[in-house]
Amino acid sequence: MVITRTPKDTYASSARIVMPNDTNTLGNLMGGNLLNWMDITAAISAHRCSRRLCVTAAVNNVSFKRPIKLGDIVTIHAEVTRSFKSSMEVYMKVHVENHVTGEQSLCNEAMYTFVALDQLGAPINVPQLVPESDEEKKRFEGALRRRQLRLVLAGKMKATDATELKALFD
Ligand SMILES: CC(C)(COP(=O)(O)OP(=O)(O)OC[C@H]1O[C@@H](n2cnc3c(N)ncnc32)[C@H](O)[C@@H]1OP(=O)(O)O)[C@@H](O)C(=O)NCCC(=O)NCCS
Repeated sequence: MVITRTPKDTYASSARIVMPNDTNTLGNLMGGNLLNWMDITAAISAHRCSRRLCVTAAVNNVSFKRPIKLGDIVTIHAEVTRSFKSSMEVYMKVHVENHVTGEQSLCNEAMYTFVALDQLGAPINVPQLVPESDEEKKRFEGALRRRQLRLVLAGKMKATDATELKALFD
């Protein structure tokens, strides 16, 4: 029997309030702390897809659009966009709630890649993901192109084998 999951099966979220220990001397959240919170939320999403121990293989497409202030409430939403053999791409959105005005805004987005491992620490196959909504299907299709780009940049794939990337320029 082939086991499949939908992106919704893999959904994970977390919320934090920015504390003094999380900030720099301007009272802004340090980027590394946000990356850590995102890593943990994405790992839960990858775990919900694979039900295996998962490690972070790559962090991509992270940008910090505006400062997040002391006292603000940060909510991270994560879901797997596509699974390959042992790896899964996790898409994340970060929303920030201004603690004074209550205004909610999208603060950043990111793609993390996780690899599921067996008890000996070797990569192991994961269930395939079946996208449902139009947005999920769009992310699913783009995931192959993003995978090729990150593997080429990591020196794990020859540029000549990156067919999806080449198709962009043909
Ligand atoms: C991730 C890791 C398990 C991959 O091991 P590996 O020996 O390269 O294994 P493989 O070449 O068989 O690749 C396994 C999968 O990882 C993917 N992968 C490897 N390096 C990658 C990278 N830089 N970016 C994206 N995916 C990557 C491969 O594409 C492959 O995916 P697939 O099975 O879906 O096709 C290994 O590099 C590792 O343990 N890294 C450290 C992970 C870690 O500790 N993270 C926390 C950092 S502090």
